[in-house]
Amino acid sequence: MDDSLPRDWALLAQQAEWLTPFRAVLLRRAAIAQRHCVLDLGCGPGLITAELLRRSGGRVVALDRNLQALVQCTALYWAETNRQPAQPICANAVRLPFADRCFDLVFCQWALLWMPLEEVLKEIHRVLEPGGYLAALEPDYGGMIEYPPEITSADLWRAGLRRAGADPEVGRKIPPLLAKLGFQVEVMLLDRLRPADPARWKMLQELPLTAAEQARQHAAMRAEAQLPPQAATVHLPIFGILAQRG
Ligand SMILES: C[S@@+](CC[C@H](N)C(=O)[O-])C[C@H]1O[C@@H](n2cnc3c(N)ncnc32)[C@H](O)[C@@H]1O
Repeated sequence: MDDSLPRDWALLAQQAEWLTPFRAVLLRRAAIAQRHCVLDLGCGPGLITAELLRRSGGRVVALDRNLQALVQCTALYWAETNRQPAQPICANAVRLPFADRCFDLVFCQWALLWMPLEEVLKEIHRVLEPGGYLAALEPDYGGMIEYPPEITSADLWRAGLRRAGADPEVGRKIPPLLAKLGFQVEVMLLDRLRPADPARWKMLQELPLTAAEQARQHAAMRAEAQLPPQAATVHLPIFGILAQRG
């Protein structure tokens, strides 16, 4: 089973939707309208690929190691007149099947946390042309803010993600590694506090938790359900990273 892709894609769609304004800032700063060759790395079912096609000035390649997700990617059947559909590639990001310097924008959302980070960032550096951008939106579960104490679940997320093969603290690790590779790096943090979203519990449920952790999750869910509206604060830091290859 691939834990990096939630079984219920509606959850991913919801996440893609609420990150739209933040992503728009990042993509604008990467001058997406002038980009002629864009890679959507770890595109999953392509919920953002169509947006990249719409906004970019050229070709979009959608890459994922999960064939089933790629087959579902509606951007591959893009029907808008005069536009090419996205080009699907099923491959592992640790060895990108592309020539050096062939993209001018690599986009990545909620995917680097699942990948061997140093290897993949080196690959991104290799396939980007000089002056090209990496635009990435990645979480950092090490910085979660939760209140009141009976609804806290940050340690469950970190344990479950680690067990599933992800790095829950990937956000903070990306900028220094990019700087080491010679990128000019700018980091934005999502600055909006959203109301606590019960849908997050479904995502947590899909991670490999121990029986004791599952019991803690259920107790936290019950406690949250009994709170009056807006009585819970839950914030997950999302890093918006814009890095230009030197
Ligand atoms: C959480 S999903 C995010 C999908 C999409 N970016 C989005 O935000 O809707 C993570 C995706 O990364 C892909 N992935 C994880 N590790 C990968 C790797 N090493 N190479 C290629 N794809 C990978 C998974 O198959 C999955 O589709």
